[in-house]
Amino acid sequence: MNDQAEMLRKIVNMKSDNRQDNTGSGSDKIARVITVTSGKGGVGKTNITINLALALSKKGLKVAILDADFGLANIDVLFGIIPKYTLLDLIHDEKNIFEILTDGPDNIKFLSGGSGVEELIRIDRKKLRKFVSSISLLDKLFDVILIDTGAGLSQNVMSFIMAADEVLLVTTPEPTAITDAYALVKMVSRRDKKKPINIIVNKADSVREAEEIANKLCVVSQKFLSLRLLKLGYILYDDNVTKSVKIQRPFSLYNPKCQAAKSISDIALKLFSQKPSEEMSGAKGFISRLLSYFGV
Ligand SMILES: Nc1ncnc2c1ncn2[C@@H]1O[C@H](COP(=O)(O)OP(=O)(O)O)[C@@H](O)[C@H]1O
Ligand SMILES: [Mg+2]
Repeated sequence: MNDQAEMLRKIVNMKSDNRQDNTGSGSDKIARVITVTSGKGGVGKTNITINLALALSKKGLKVAILDADFGLANIDVLFGIIPKYTLLDLIHDEKNIFEILTDGPDNIKFLSGGSGVEELIRIDRKKLRKFVSSISLLDKLFDVILIDTGAGLSQNVMSFIMAADEVLLVTTPEPTAITDAYALVKMVSRRDKKKPINIIVNKADSVREAEEIANKLCVVSQKFLSLRLLKLGYILYDDNVTKSVKIQRPFSLYNPKCQAAKSISDIALKLFSQKPSEEMSGAKGFISRLLSYFGV
């Protein structure tokens, strides 16, 4: 492992050392659970999730992706890999957590959400308990869990946002994407003013444009919502992204030297040089909160 990976692992484990996971397992390691979302669709969430996962994995972290864009199953399309099982097989206790984790490139794993967590509402208590302890196992297996959602503002997506420890909010310079991103920040601020929200501006024409948009969102959120956004970075419009999507290969593998790949690597570094949130509760906390939002 190189020096950078060592440093990142220390940062990740630093948060683990400070916290209990209450599983009674004796180990207190927890994963950093980050929901990737947006107000408007088509802004680049799935591409960012996948390539960020690869960038973090390259830096020595164990990464899993949960595809929570139900029905659209974006992650497998962009990987060009069809998962054998989905979360539903775990919910119905037909497969275990190891069987439903599909191998992606470069050591990352992904978990397909299937037709949705609404299924959880219908399961009996015994299966539910098993399901929660299986999901809690992800804390032991991974350092980071990225959750790719559909576009925001629905009750479903809001539940994923509020259940995760942190949010990664993607916008483009399009005015509709910016106003929808702000609407989402507003909804989060009504529920939790302390939820860490990281902003990424994607498909910008210039660094200046990206920075202006991120700054505006920060200023407005601070002024009207008293909520501090964190500027995580930007990705300029890059033809390599569209080309890579067509051949179902992540852009950072399709062309590791492209501008988008360099930007995502910078974003990965910035994300993991942040001091992790004091409120972090990992996969176990995430699933407990999610279930309570779904009324289970
Ligand atoms: N930085 C970028 N440069 C050029 N095209 C991009 C960029 N990011 C995303 N795209 C294109 O935008 C489209 C939507 O991306 P996707 O990741 O599926 O968005 P979402 O998950 O938010 O719906 C894709 O077809 C992709 O090719
Ligand atoms: Mg998507």
